[in-house]
Amino acid sequence: KKVVLAYSGGLDTSVIIPWLKENYNGCEVIAVCADIGQGDELDVVHDKALASGASKVFIVDLTKPFLEEYVWQTLKAGAVYEGKYLLGTSFARPIIAKALVEIARQEGADAIAHGATGKGNDQVRFELTVKALAPDLQIVAPWRIWDIRSREDALAYAAKHNVPVATSNKTYSMDRNIWHLSHEGSDLEDPWNAPKDNVYLVTKSPEQAPDEPAYVEIEFEKGIPVAVDGEKLGAVELLTKLNEIGAANGVGITDIVENRLVGMKSRGVYENPGGAILYYAHRELEYLTLDRATFHYKETVAIRYGELVYDGMWFSQLREALDAFVNQTQETVTGTVRLKLYKGNIISAGSKSPYSLYSEEFVTFGRDEVYNQADAEGFINLFGLPLKVRALMQQKEGK
Ligand code: ARG
Ligand code: SIN
Repeated sequence: KKVVLAYSGGLDTSVIIPWLKENYNGCEVIAVCADIGQGDELDVVHDKALASGASKVFIVDLTKPFLEEYVWQTLKAGAVYEGKYLLGTSFARPIIAKALVEIARQEGADAIAHGATGKGNDQVRFELTVKALAPDLQIVAPWRIWDIRSREDALAYAAKHNVPVATSNKTYSMDRNIWHLSHEGSDLEDPWNAPKDNVYLVTKSPEQAPDEPAYVEIEFEKGIPVAVDGEKLGAVELLTKLNEIGAANGVGITDIVENRLVGMKSRGVYENPGGAILYYAHRELEYLTLDRATFHYKETVAIRYGELVYDGMWFSQLREALDAFVNQTQETVTGTVRLKLYKGNIISAGSKSPYSLYSEEFVTFGRDEVYNQADAEGFINLFGLPLKVRALMQQKEGK
Protein backbone atom coordinates (compact mmCIF):
# COMPACT_ATOMS: atom_id res chain seq x y z
CA LYS A 1 0.00 0.00 0.00
CA LYS A 2 1.19 3.51 -0.88
CA VAL A 3 -0.13 6.70 0.66
CA VAL A 4 0.48 10.21 -0.69
CA LEU A 5 0.55 12.74 2.14
CA ALA A 6 0.00 16.50 1.97
CA TYR A 7 3.15 17.50 3.84
CA SER A 8 3.99 20.91 5.29
CA GLY A 9 7.07 20.22 7.36
CA GLY A 10 5.25 21.08 10.59
CA LEU A 11 4.92 18.84 13.63
CA ASP A 12 1.47 17.52 12.77
CA THR A 13 2.18 16.36 9.25
CA SER A 14 5.59 14.99 10.30
CA VAL A 15 4.00 12.81 12.96
CA ILE A 16 1.50 11.52 10.42
CA ILE A 17 4.32 9.75 8.52
CA PRO A 18 5.23 7.17 11.23
CA TRP A 19 1.57 7.00 12.27
CA LEU A 20 0.52 5.90 8.78
CA LYS A 21 3.30 3.31 8.65
CA GLU A 22 2.33 1.99 12.06
CA ASN A 23 -1.40 1.83 11.36
CA TYR A 24 -1.42 0.71 7.72
CA ASN A 25 0.93 -2.28 7.80
CA GLY A 26 4.18 -0.46 7.15
CA CYS A 27 2.77 1.26 4.08
CA GLU A 28 4.98 3.45 1.96
CA VAL A 29 4.44 7.18 2.58
CA ILE A 30 5.16 9.66 -0.19
CA ALA A 31 5.32 13.24 1.06
CA VAL A 32 4.18 16.04 -1.21
CA CYS A 33 4.86 19.63 -0.32
CA ALA A 34 3.22 22.23 -2.53
CA ASP A 35 5.06 25.52 -2.74
CA ILE A 36 2.44 28.24 -3.01
CA GLY A 37 4.59 30.99 -1.60
CA GLN A 38 4.41 30.09 2.09
CA GLY A 39 8.03 31.13 2.40
CA ASP A 40 9.29 28.02 4.20
CA GLU A 41 12.75 26.69 3.48
CA LEU A 42 11.80 23.86 1.22
CA ASP A 43 15.10 21.98 1.31
CA VAL A 44 14.66 21.77 5.08
CA VAL A 45 11.09 20.52 4.59
CA HIS A 46 12.36 17.98 2.07
CA ASP A 47 14.98 16.55 4.47
CA LYS A 48 12.56 16.54 7.37
CA ALA A 49 10.07 14.40 5.45
CA LEU A 50 12.77 11.82 4.77
CA ALA A 51 14.02 11.96 8.37
CA SER A 52 10.44 11.36 9.53
CA GLY A 53 10.23 8.21 7.44
CA ALA A 54 8.85 9.18 4.03
CA SER A 55 10.07 6.99 1.19
CA LYS A 56 10.01 9.85 -1.31
CA VAL A 57 9.44 13.58 -1.23
CA PHE A 58 8.07 15.81 -3.95
CA ILE A 59 8.30 19.58 -3.71
CA VAL A 60 6.06 21.08 -6.37
CA ASP A 61 6.17 24.76 -7.23
CA LEU A 62 2.59 25.86 -7.77
CA THR A 63 2.83 29.55 -6.95
CA LYS A 64 2.25 30.78 -10.49
CA PRO A 65 -0.68 28.48 -11.38
CA PHE A 66 -2.13 29.17 -7.93
CA LEU A 67 -2.32 32.86 -8.79
CA GLU A 68 -3.21 32.55 -12.45
CA GLU A 69 -5.83 29.82 -12.25
CA TYR A 70 -7.35 30.17 -8.78
CA VAL A 71 -6.66 33.59 -7.28
CA TRP A 72 -7.15 35.71 -10.39
CA GLN A 73 -10.37 33.90 -11.24
CA THR A 74 -11.75 34.52 -7.76
CA LEU A 75 -10.59 38.14 -7.93
CA LYS A 76 -12.41 38.58 -11.25
CA ALA A 77 -15.54 37.17 -9.61
CA GLY A 78 -15.09 39.70 -6.79
CA ALA A 79 -15.74 36.85 -4.38
CA VAL A 80 -15.32 37.60 -0.68
CA TYR A 81 -16.58 35.30 2.07
CA GLU A 82 -19.01 36.91 4.49
CA GLY A 83 -18.01 40.36 3.34
CA LYS A 84 -14.49 40.16 4.72
CA TYR A 85 -12.41 37.07 4.04
CA LEU A 86 -10.44 36.93 0.78
CA LEU A 87 -10.41 33.12 0.77
CA GLY A 88 -6.64 32.68 0.97
CA THR A 89 -6.71 29.23 2.55
CA SER A 90 -9.88 28.13 0.81
CA PHE A 91 -8.63 28.11 -2.78
CA ALA A 92 -5.19 26.84 -1.80
CA ARG A 93 -6.65 23.46 -0.81
CA PRO A 94 -7.99 22.42 -4.23
CA ILE A 95 -4.71 23.15 -6.01
CA ILE A 96 -2.75 21.22 -3.36
CA ALA A 97 -5.16 18.29 -3.52
CA LYS A 98 -4.95 18.27 -7.32
CA ALA A 99 -1.16 17.94 -7.07
CA LEU A 100 -1.60 15.07 -4.57
CA VAL A 101 -3.87 13.27 -7.01
CA GLU A 102 -1.44 13.72 -9.89
CA ILE A 103 1.44 12.31 -7.86
CA ALA A 104 -0.74 9.48 -6.54
CA ARG A 105 -1.46 8.49 -10.16
CA GLN A 106 2.15 8.78 -11.23
CA GLU A 107 3.35 6.70 -8.25
CA GLY A 108 0.50 4.21 -8.36
CA ALA A 109 -0.67 5.08 -4.84
CA ASP A 110 -4.01 3.93 -3.42
CA ALA A 111 -4.67 6.59 -0.80
CA ILE A 112 -4.28 10.25 0.03
CA ALA A 113 -3.72 11.60 3.54
CA HIS A 114 -3.88 15.12 4.94
CA GLY A 115 -3.27 16.80 8.28
CA ALA A 116 -6.44 18.85 8.59
CA THR A 117 -8.49 18.37 11.76
CA GLY A 118 -11.99 16.98 11.93
CA LYS A 119 -13.37 20.32 13.12
CA GLY A 120 -12.42 22.53 10.22
CA ASN A 121 -13.04 23.51 6.62
CA ASP A 122 -9.76 22.28 5.22
CA GLN A 123 -10.62 18.57 5.52
CA VAL A 124 -13.71 19.24 3.38
CA ARG A 125 -11.76 21.14 0.74
CA PHE A 126 -9.03 18.49 0.41
CA GLU A 127 -11.46 15.63 0.27
CA LEU A 128 -14.01 17.19 -2.10
CA THR A 129 -11.18 17.80 -4.54
CA VAL A 130 -10.00 14.20 -4.31
CA LYS A 131 -13.56 12.98 -4.81
CA ALA A 132 -13.97 15.22 -7.87
CA LEU A 133 -10.68 14.27 -9.50
CA ALA A 134 -10.03 10.70 -8.35
CA PRO A 135 -13.15 9.12 -6.89
CA ASP A 136 -11.44 5.76 -6.51
CA LEU A 137 -8.66 6.97 -4.20
CA GLN A 138 -9.03 6.25 -0.51
CA ILE A 139 -8.74 9.18 1.91
CA VAL A 140 -7.04 9.00 5.30
CA ALA A 141 -7.59 11.82 7.80
CA PRO A 142 -5.53 10.86 10.89
CA TRP A 143 -6.88 13.71 13.03
CA ARG A 144 -10.32 12.13 12.89
CA ILE A 145 -9.13 8.73 14.07
CA TRP A 146 -5.95 8.86 16.13
CA ASP A 147 -5.80 9.70 19.82
CA ILE A 148 -3.31 12.53 19.57
CA ARG A 149 -5.25 15.42 21.09
CA SER A 150 -2.71 18.13 21.81
CA ARG A 151 0.68 19.49 20.89
CA GLU A 152 2.09 17.59 23.90
CA ASP A 153 0.67 14.31 22.59
CA ALA A 154 2.15 15.03 19.16
CA LEU A 155 5.56 15.84 20.68
CA ALA A 156 5.50 12.60 22.70
CA TYR A 157 4.62 10.61 19.57
CA ALA A 158 7.37 12.39 17.63
CA ALA A 159 9.96 11.58 20.32
CA LYS A 160 8.94 7.92 20.35
CA HIS A 161 9.25 7.62 16.56
CA ASN A 162 12.40 9.71 16.06
CA VAL A 163 10.63 12.48 14.19
CA PRO A 164 12.86 15.57 14.24
CA VAL A 165 11.17 18.48 16.00
CA ALA A 166 12.05 22.11 15.37
CA THR A 167 11.59 24.36 18.38
CA SER A 168 8.58 26.47 17.63
CA ASN A 169 7.44 29.64 19.32
CA LYS A 170 4.23 29.77 17.35
CA THR A 171 1.29 30.98 19.40
CA TYR A 172 -1.33 30.89 16.67
CA SER A 173 -2.55 28.34 14.19
CA MET A 174 -1.30 29.78 10.93
CA ASP A 175 -1.69 29.20 7.26
CA ARG A 176 0.42 31.12 4.80
CA ASN A 177 0.81 31.43 1.05
CA ILE A 178 1.69 34.20 -1.39
CA TRP A 179 -1.88 35.57 -1.21
CA HIS A 180 -2.48 35.60 2.53
CA LEU A 181 -1.71 34.72 6.12
CA SER A 182 -4.29 33.43 8.56
CA HIS A 183 -4.13 33.42 12.34
CA GLU A 184 -6.48 31.49 14.59
CA GLY A 185 -6.50 30.13 18.13
CA SER A 186 -4.98 31.17 21.47
CA ASP A 187 -6.20 34.56 22.76
CA LEU A 188 -7.96 35.21 19.41
CA GLU A 189 -10.52 32.55 20.36
CA ASP A 190 -12.19 35.21 22.51
CA PRO A 191 -13.73 37.66 20.03
CA TRP A 192 -13.59 40.40 22.69
CA ASN A 193 -9.77 40.29 22.47
CA ALA A 194 -8.35 42.68 19.91
CA PRO A 195 -5.45 41.12 17.99
CA LYS A 196 -2.14 41.94 19.64
CA ASP A 197 0.38 43.73 17.44
CA ASN A 198 2.59 40.62 17.38
CA VAL A 199 -0.12 38.67 15.53
CA TYR A 200 0.82 40.36 12.27
CA LEU A 201 3.79 38.79 10.57
CA VAL A 202 4.08 41.01 7.53
CA THR A 203 1.69 43.94 7.88
CA LYS A 204 2.57 47.12 9.75
CA SER A 205 0.03 48.53 12.14
CA PRO A 206 -1.44 51.91 11.12
CA GLU A 207 0.66 53.52 13.86
CA GLN A 208 3.87 52.09 12.41
CA ALA A 209 2.98 53.06 8.83
CA PRO A 210 4.63 56.10 7.22
CA ASP A 211 3.16 59.56 7.77
CA GLU A 212 3.14 60.18 4.02
CA PRO A 213 0.65 58.36 1.79
CA ALA A 214 1.89 55.97 -0.91
CA TYR A 215 0.37 56.00 -4.39
CA VAL A 216 0.15 52.94 -6.56
CA GLU A 217 -1.19 52.43 -10.08
CA ILE A 218 -2.49 49.05 -11.16
CA GLU A 219 -3.28 48.13 -14.72
CA PHE A 220 -5.76 45.38 -15.60
CA GLU A 221 -6.43 43.52 -18.83
CA LYS A 222 -9.79 41.76 -18.93
CA GLY A 223 -9.94 41.78 -15.17
CA ILE A 224 -6.42 40.43 -14.66
CA PRO A 225 -3.75 42.61 -13.05
CA VAL A 226 -0.81 42.99 -15.44
CA ALA A 227 1.24 46.01 -14.37
CA VAL A 228 2.12 48.09 -11.32
CA ASP A 229 3.21 51.70 -11.72
CA GLY A 230 3.54 51.23 -15.46
CA GLU A 231 5.78 48.17 -15.19
CA LYS A 232 4.45 44.94 -16.74
CA LEU A 233 4.89 42.10 -14.25
CA GLY A 234 4.15 38.40 -14.09
CA ALA A 235 1.62 37.25 -11.51
CA VAL A 236 4.15 36.34 -8.81
CA GLU A 237 6.26 39.50 -9.14
CA LEU A 238 3.15 41.66 -9.30
CA LEU A 239 1.60 40.31 -6.13
CA THR A 240 4.95 40.30 -4.32
CA LYS A 241 5.34 43.98 -5.10
CA LEU A 242 1.80 44.85 -3.98
CA ASN A 243 2.26 42.80 -0.80
CA GLU A 244 5.29 44.92 0.06
CA ILE A 245 3.60 48.25 -0.61
CA GLY A 246 0.42 47.17 1.16
CA ALA A 247 2.18 45.71 4.20
CA ALA A 248 4.32 48.83 4.64
CA ASN A 249 1.16 50.95 4.72
CA GLY A 250 -0.82 48.68 7.01
CA VAL A 251 -3.55 47.70 4.56
CA GLY A 252 -5.37 44.39 4.17
CA ILE A 253 -5.99 43.29 7.73
CA THR A 254 -9.27 41.53 8.34
CA ASP A 255 -10.63 40.34 11.64
CA ILE A 256 -13.74 38.17 11.43
CA VAL A 257 -15.91 35.74 13.34
CA GLU A 258 -16.77 33.51 10.40
CA ASN A 259 -19.20 30.66 9.84
CA ARG A 260 -17.32 27.45 9.15
CA LEU A 261 -18.96 25.05 6.74
CA VAL A 262 -18.95 22.36 9.44
CA GLY A 263 -21.34 24.35 11.60
CA MET A 264 -19.41 26.29 14.19
CA LYS A 265 -18.23 29.87 14.18
CA SER A 266 -14.51 30.56 14.42
CA ARG A 267 -12.47 33.71 14.82
CA GLY A 268 -9.76 34.50 12.30
CA VAL A 269 -7.38 37.34 11.65
CA TYR A 270 -6.04 37.61 8.12
CA GLU A 271 -3.27 39.54 6.41
CA ASN A 272 -3.87 40.27 2.76
CA PRO A 273 -1.90 43.39 1.87
CA GLY A 274 -1.60 42.86 -1.88
CA GLY A 275 -4.95 41.12 -2.12
CA ALA A 276 -6.84 43.99 -0.52
CA ILE A 277 -5.27 46.41 -2.99
CA LEU A 278 -6.16 44.20 -5.95
CA TYR A 279 -9.77 43.67 -4.87
CA TYR A 280 -10.25 47.38 -4.32
CA ALA A 281 -8.63 48.34 -7.64
CA HIS A 282 -10.49 45.70 -9.63
CA ARG A 283 -13.81 46.90 -8.32
CA GLU A 284 -12.95 50.51 -9.12
CA LEU A 285 -12.49 49.49 -12.73
CA GLU A 286 -15.82 47.66 -12.76
CA TYR A 287 -17.56 50.80 -11.51
CA LEU A 288 -16.31 52.42 -14.68
CA THR A 289 -16.86 49.65 -17.19
CA LEU A 290 -19.86 47.48 -16.26
CA ASP A 291 -23.42 48.56 -16.86
CA ARG A 292 -25.81 48.72 -13.94
CA ALA A 293 -27.66 45.44 -14.46
CA THR A 294 -24.47 43.45 -15.01
CA PHE A 295 -22.73 45.07 -12.05
CA HIS A 296 -25.63 44.32 -9.72
CA TYR A 297 -26.10 40.77 -10.98
CA LYS A 298 -22.38 40.18 -10.58
CA GLU A 299 -22.60 41.21 -6.92
CA THR A 300 -24.97 38.33 -6.22
CA VAL A 301 -22.75 35.96 -8.21
CA ALA A 302 -19.82 37.13 -6.08
CA ILE A 303 -21.54 36.04 -2.88
CA ARG A 304 -22.36 32.60 -4.30
CA TYR A 305 -18.86 32.25 -5.75
CA GLY A 306 -17.35 33.11 -2.37
CA GLU A 307 -19.43 30.42 -0.65
CA LEU A 308 -18.50 27.87 -3.26
CA VAL A 309 -14.77 28.54 -2.88
CA TYR A 310 -15.04 28.55 0.90
CA ASP A 311 -16.91 25.25 0.80
CA GLY A 312 -14.22 23.56 -1.28
CA MET A 313 -16.48 23.16 -4.32
CA TRP A 314 -13.82 24.39 -6.76
CA PHE A 315 -14.12 21.39 -9.07
CA SER A 316 -17.87 21.72 -9.49
CA GLN A 317 -20.19 22.38 -12.37
CA LEU A 318 -21.44 25.55 -10.70
CA ARG A 319 -17.93 27.03 -10.54
CA GLU A 320 -17.41 26.36 -14.24
CA ALA A 321 -20.79 27.90 -15.08
CA LEU A 322 -20.19 31.00 -12.96
CA ASP A 323 -16.72 31.36 -14.52
CA ALA A 324 -18.33 31.57 -17.94
CA PHE A 325 -20.50 34.45 -16.70
CA VAL A 326 -17.63 36.16 -14.91
CA ASN A 327 -15.25 35.87 -17.86
CA GLN A 328 -17.80 37.42 -20.20
CA THR A 329 -18.21 40.40 -17.83
CA GLN A 330 -14.45 40.91 -17.78
CA GLU A 331 -14.09 41.48 -21.54
CA THR A 332 -14.03 45.24 -20.96
CA VAL A 333 -12.50 45.37 -17.48
CA THR A 334 -9.30 46.82 -18.88
CA GLY A 335 -7.69 50.01 -17.68
CA THR A 336 -5.74 51.62 -14.86
CA VAL A 337 -6.62 52.45 -11.28
CA ARG A 338 -4.67 54.76 -9.00
CA LEU A 339 -4.92 54.26 -5.26
CA LYS A 340 -3.69 56.13 -2.25
CA LEU A 341 -2.55 53.97 0.69
CA TYR A 342 -2.43 55.65 4.02
CA LYS A 343 -2.18 54.09 7.50
CA GLY A 344 -4.35 51.07 6.84
CA ASN A 345 -6.69 52.79 4.40
CA ILE A 346 -7.11 52.32 0.69
CA ILE A 347 -8.44 55.47 -0.97
CA SER A 348 -9.51 55.91 -4.59
CA ALA A 349 -7.29 58.30 -6.50
CA GLY A 350 -8.41 57.93 -10.12
CA SER A 351 -9.42 55.37 -12.70
CA LYS A 352 -9.48 55.20 -16.49
CA SER A 353 -10.41 52.71 -19.17
CA PRO A 354 -10.77 52.71 -22.93
CA TYR A 355 -14.10 50.90 -22.29
CA SER A 356 -15.41 53.34 -19.72
CA LEU A 357 -19.18 53.70 -19.82
CA TYR A 358 -18.94 56.87 -17.84
CA SER A 359 -19.51 59.99 -19.89
CA GLU A 360 -18.87 63.47 -18.59
CA GLU A 361 -20.86 64.70 -21.53
CA PHE A 362 -24.00 62.74 -20.56
CA VAL A 363 -23.87 63.40 -16.85
CA THR A 364 -23.18 67.10 -17.11
CA PHE A 365 -25.87 69.60 -16.26
CA GLY A 366 -25.25 71.47 -19.48
CA ARG A 367 -27.24 70.90 -22.67
CA ASP A 368 -26.67 67.62 -24.45
CA GLU A 369 -27.87 65.45 -27.27
CA VAL A 370 -28.49 61.95 -25.80
CA TYR A 371 -30.45 62.92 -22.70
CA ASN A 372 -33.69 64.83 -22.98
CA GLN A 373 -34.86 65.87 -19.53
CA ALA A 374 -38.47 65.91 -20.69
CA ASP A 375 -38.24 62.08 -21.17
CA ALA A 376 -37.79 61.67 -17.42
CA GLU A 377 -41.41 62.57 -16.65
CA GLY A 378 -42.89 59.66 -18.61
CA PHE A 379 -40.25 57.31 -17.24
CA ILE A 380 -41.11 58.24 -13.66
CA ASN A 381 -44.86 57.92 -14.33
CA LEU A 382 -44.53 54.32 -15.50
CA PHE A 383 -41.75 53.32 -13.09
CA GLY A 384 -43.83 54.71 -10.23
CA LEU A 385 -47.12 53.24 -11.39
CA PRO A 386 -47.15 50.32 -8.90
CA LEU A 387 -46.55 52.72 -6.02
CA LYS A 388 -49.41 54.93 -7.21
CA VAL A 389 -51.83 52.03 -7.70
CA ARG A 390 -51.12 50.73 -4.19
CA ALA A 391 -51.53 54.16 -2.63
CA LEU A 392 -54.90 54.59 -4.41
CA MET A 393 -56.07 51.20 -3.11
CA GLN A 394 -54.99 52.11 0.45
CA GLN A 395 -56.87 55.42 0.23
CA LYS A 396 -59.99 53.61 -0.89
CA GLU A 397 -59.71 51.05 1.93
CA GLY A 398 -59.15 53.89 4.36
CA LYS A 399 -55.77 52.49 5.49
N1 ARG B 1 -10.71 29.92 8.51
C1 ARG B 1 -10.01 30.00 7.29
C2 ARG B 1 -10.64 29.10 6.26
O1 ARG B 1 -11.41 28.28 6.60
C3 ARG B 1 -8.54 29.73 7.48
C4 ARG B 1 -8.20 28.30 7.83
C5 ARG B 1 -6.75 28.18 8.15
N2 ARG B 1 -6.30 26.82 8.06
C6 ARG B 1 -5.29 26.32 8.76
N3 ARG B 1 -4.97 25.07 8.55
N4 ARG B 1 -4.61 27.05 9.63
O2 ARG B 1 -10.39 29.19 5.10
C1 SIN C 1 -8.08 22.68 10.62
O1 SIN C 1 -9.03 22.41 11.37
O2 SIN C 1 -7.36 21.80 10.14
C2 SIN C 1 -7.78 24.13 10.30
C3 SIN C 1 -8.97 25.02 10.33
C4 SIN C 1 -9.95 24.78 9.23
O3 SIN C 1 -9.77 23.87 8.44
O4 SIN C 1 -10.98 25.49 9.17
